[in-house]
Amino acid sequence: MKAIVIGGSGQIGGWLLRHLADRGHEAVGTYATVPFPGLHPLRASDREDAAAWLRRQHPQVVFYPAGFTWVDGCERDPATARASNLEEPLNLARVTADLGGRFVYFSTDYVFRGDDGPDSEESPPDPPNVYGLAKLDAERAIAGELGDRALIARTSWVYGPERQGKNFAYQVIRRLVSGEPVMVPSDQRSSPSYGPDVALAAIRLVEEGHAGLVHLAGPEVLSRPEFAGAIAEGFGLDPGPIASKPTAELGQGAPRPLQGGLLTPRLDRILPGLMRPVSLSIDDFLRRLNLGEAWNDPRVGPTA
Ligand SMILES: NC(=O)c1ccc[n+]([C@@H]2O[C@H](COP(=O)([O-])OP(=O)(O)OC[C@H]3O[C@@H](n4cnc5c(N)ncnc54)[C@H](OP(=O)(O)O)[C@@H]3O)[C@@H](O)[C@H]2O)c1
Repeated sequence: MKAIVIGGSGQIGGWLLRHLADRGHEAVGTYATVPFPGLHPLRASDREDAAAWLRRQHPQVVFYPAGFTWVDGCERDPATARASNLEEPLNLARVTADLGGRFVYFSTDYVFRGDDGPDSEESPPDPPNVYGLAKLDAERAIAGELGDRALIARTSWVYGPERQGKNFAYQVIRRLVSGEPVMVPSDQRSSPSYGPDVALAAIRLVEEGHAGLVHLAGPEVLSRPEFAGAIAEGFGLDPGPIASKPTAELGQGAPRPLQGGLLTPRLDRILPGLMRPVSLSIDDFLRRLNLGEAWNDPRVGPTA
């Protein structure tokens, strides 16, 4: 199939492009502000230009792991949060549908209030912040307009090798390697999800013709201190500098789900065992680093 990955310079987008190529698909990725070789420059906020470029590409499937993903920034700038996470993907979803293609929108467990998670696809959403509300509205608008041409893939706490080296695992490893303290929320729980597996699951669902809402998340629910500790242990680092405080004392700009995380009953039926637990994912992360397949090594500092 011919695929477009809007946000190919990002964490999930990088893995989508790599898996698509490995699986014999034709794929073109885009970047907005961080260029990498082979990626096409595209800002979804330039709506007419972005739509015209997409029409020229004539894809069979568009993956959209993009948007304004800084949760505290969204709280401060709701207009940009809604434009970037709702209006811009909806614009390109409409173009994709006009072309007869399928559209994969990546969403989040932050659509849930997180009072009693983990939540399944059947749980009623109730976003606690601007980011989560924009993502939920986008889910509904895209699914409402595209029907069975849309796949809505919710994920949570994505980590693993990535080009830009920004995710939580990179932050923890870099700080521990350089002897700095690591402060994490003591009372936030969610499902750590290994980026390469999230991307592979999305591609396999598309290959097999699935549509609708699906949760793509790892099989465990951990607290932030447990997750940070597992990363330290997996990398052979002393977890001693990892400290924690309640969310209420951290001054984060946006409210967070505390009892969060995603149950994955649909994925477990379709692709059982695809999402690996943290221990196996960290083994894979290290293996890829040692083979030079991970783009960016957190043990040696930011290199991109
Ligand atoms: N990471 C997580 O823990 C997590 C959890 C739940 C849900 N999600 C969802 O999963 C998706 C992917 O997450 P991620 O961690 O891979 O994100 P990421 O690493 O922050 O990547 C975001 C991508 O979007 C691109 N982008 C930003 N603004 C754009 C615009 N206006 N037009 C076109 N492209 C734009 C970025 O390009 P440049 O970098 O080149 O500017 C980048 O390629 C997001 O939709 C996010 O909401 C992520």
